[in-house]
Amino acid sequence: MALIGVFDSGVGGLSILDEALRQLPEHDYIYLADSINAPYGEKSSEWIALRSMELCQYLAAQGCDAIMVACNTATAEAIAAIRNELSHIPIIGVEPGIKPAAMQSSNGIVGVLATEATLKSGKFSALLATLPDCQFVKQAGAGLVPLIEAGQADGEQTLELLAEHLEPIQEAGADTLVLGCTHYPFLRKAIRKLLGDSINLVDTSEAVVRQLKRKLEAQGKRLDNDEHGSVTFISSKDAQTLHQMAFELMQSDLDEHSIKSQLVSSFT
Ligand code: DGL
Repeated sequence: MALIGVFDSGVGGLSILDEALRQLPEHDYIYLADSINAPYGEKSSEWIALRSMELCQYLAAQGCDAIMVACNTATAEAIAAIRNELSHIPIIGVEPGIKPAAMQSSNGIVGVLATEATLKSGKFSALLATLPDCQFVKQAGAGLVPLIEAGQADGEQTLELLAEHLEPIQEAGADTLVLGCTHYPFLRKAIRKLLGDSINLVDTSEAVVRQLKRKLEAQGKRLDNDEHGSVTFISSKDAQTLHQMAFELMQSDLDEHSIKSQLVSSFT
């Protein structure tokens, strides 16, 4: 069995943890939510890079065999430096799924909803440049992460803000929408309400966890998914709320795992 560290600015990475528990329930997980600092998406590149490094170093010091940077923003700003620094363990990142989206789109018009920092990053521009034949309508989801963090993914205010953000994507005639932030899969219901069932929604959690699985297999870690490992929830803000939100937002049956939660206010 392995110990896997998963981190995000807040509850968004729970969408990745959920998929990890579905595919690889036998491992032990530490989920670290830096909710005191959410949202990351409107912070500077330097800040995001430093904080992401600090949190990954903390997870590595807890003995993690692999770390999932379950945040598109942190991946865009910091993954290369983290891989460089922690070269002894696999570091798996998350990127907006624009390649699968381009493949799934029938009309070649794809909306990308992500944080401002992700959309502005060099990594994202480089990814876009590999797909010149597709039209991407980029939209920063400003204000959505704080609402999801506040437990209002299905709330009226979220629906209104989301409608504003989706308008240019809808007007451009996109038939596919990339959920380019790990918080946004929790908006699926609201997006369906606004855009209907015909639009393809693309999130990469399944592929990201398959990548983790390959890395663990390459390390010779035993895989036995009849077992259920433990999950430790660590929050920089409020462990109780994180614990509660995990039960609310995730589909996995957390009762099958041994669960702990913990408040950590300094990661150095
Ligand atoms: N969930 C994160 C992402 O995937 C970060 C959102 C934020 O904190 O702004 O980009």
